[in-house]
Parts: sequence; C-alpha cells; structure tokens
Amino acid sequence: MKTVHSVADLHLALAGAPAPVGLVPTMGAFHAGHQSLINAARRENETVVVSLFVNPAQFTSGADLATYPRHPEADEATAADWATDVLFAPAPDEMYPDGFDTVVQPGAVGEVLEGAVKPGHFQGVATICLKLFNLVQPQRVYFGRKDAQQVAVIGALLRDFDLASRIELRVLPTVRDGDGLALSSRNVFLDPDERRRALLLPRALSGGRAAYRSGADPVEAARAVLEADPAVIVDYVAVADLGGLTLAAAIRVGSTRLIDNLLLTDEDD
Ligand code: PAJ
Repeated sequence: MKTVHSVADLHLALAGAPAPVGLVPTMGAFHAGHQSLINAARRENETVVVSLFVNPAQFTSGADLATYPRHPEADEATAADWATDVLFAPAPDEMYPDGFDTVVQPGAVGEVLEGAVKPGHFQGVATICLKLFNLVQPQRVYFGRKDAQQVAVIGALLRDFDLASRIELRVLPTVRDGDGLALSSRNVFLDPDERRRALLLPRALSGGRAAYRSGADPVEAARAVLEADPAVIVDYVAVADLGGLTLAAAIRVGSTRLIDNLLLTDEDD
C-alpha cells in the first residue's frame, strides 16, 4: 500500500494504476462498517483507493471537529491489512488551499433531516466528495447505507453533474454490533450507561418498522420508544424517500449524537 498526503503524490501513485478503480471516502477511525466498504471495493476493482480526511467543511460544530476520533497510524496499518492499494490522507490545506472559493450546494434532498439540524453539512460533504471524485477518477465509489441521506445527496450530485455514467455509486448495508447498535466512529464516546441508552435507537427503528407493517404510524411508534427515556434527546424521527421509503432518526445521548435508519420495505437492512 502507498500512503500519500499530497495531490501531487496521489497523481503519481495513480499513474498507470489498473482500472477499474474503486474509491472509498472516509474520515478514518476505522471500524467494521468501513471494512465492509473496503472489502467490497477490493472484490470489485483492480485498484482500491481509500481517502482518510476529517473534512472541516462538513462539521457544523468546532467542538465536534476538535474531538472527532483520529488514529492515523492505526488506520494506516488497518487500511494495509484490508488490502488497500492507495491511502490518500491529505492535510486540510491540501484540500482547501488559500483562495479556495467554490462549493457544491445540494438541493432539497440535503435540506431535511441532517441538513435541517446541521445546515451546511451536506454542502461540505458534496464539495469534498466531488473533489475526491475528480482527483481519483474512480469507476466506482462506495458509501454506507448507515448515512442514507448522504447516499441520496451523492446520488443527486452524480446525476446532476453528469457523472453517473462514469461513476457507479455502490451502497453497502449498515454494519451493526451484535446488540443492534450501528457501528460509528463516535460510539467510542459512549460510557456503558449511554451505550445502553443508545440501543433505544435501533430498537425504536425496528419497532417503527413493525408498526408500519401492521398499518400503524412508524414515526409515532419509534418516537414512543425513544421518549420513554427522558435522558434521550430526540433530534428527529421521520420517514423519507432515501433510495426507498426510510425511517430515519437522530438522537443525543449525553454529548454524543447518533443517527440510524431502516428501509421500511426491506427485511435484511
Ligand atoms: P465516515 O463517517 O468515516 O464514513 C465513511 C463511510 O463509511 C460512509 O460511506 C459511511 O456511510 C460508511 N459507514 C459508516 N458507518 C457505517 C456502518 N455502521 N455500516 C456501513 N457503513 C458505514 O461519511 C463520512 O465519513 C464522510 O461524510 C465522507 C463521505 C468521507 C465525506 O467526508
């Protein structure tokens, strides 16, 4: 595996790299959710590029950016273990040099749910992803269903900027711990009590899906599960069309914010 930190070295590393190229954009602090994307990219491509960049533009809180888990050395070793060919780990200046002045503004799909709670978040995501797509020029890009709205934003970006015929958007199912909690780099912040509370999130979503299937209101059912614990703050529970009818929710437990979703129509997700 080659680890590169600059755009110039990325171009050198990719010169002559065999196609197809699969790109997995990440912010590091790798877990089995990232592994599932990288494994899929490895199976389906000749060259696997993983980007590791904690993208300041998508954080709407300075504190969240400052405390975001960072383990660059461990991640580098892990990416090599997972058979990555090129790890692109730029510094912020490399992606946003002085004078950087253009952004991608997602439309309606980015304004609800996460976009409503964190205005500007999806602008940051879409901008960095378009830059990464232009730099790496992959044939396939890999995203997790865990962030279903992010997938919808990237799908719209590829469609609207005429990239969909050149770049295939591959979406992998949410990877969960045995107890149902979706893996997230932020789960490390949960103490044992908070982790127990966090389990209400997947339970609320499966309760909501069961309610939906029996003809009841999934949002009401999910909300009831979350609101049974006054220590859980509910940011939203909503049904949205995110590549299929999706029940999505965001909660705060202590100082940790968690998001999760389930396809209402799919048994396995
Ligand atoms: P990050 O949170 O590091 O996630 C990188 C990729 O891993 C995303 O596509 C995300 O949906 C996926 N992922 C995270 N947890 C997962 C899980 N439990 N199961 C399956 N996939 C999971 O998402 C980002 O970074 C950033 O917004 C990024 C796209 C890199 C742009 O900066």
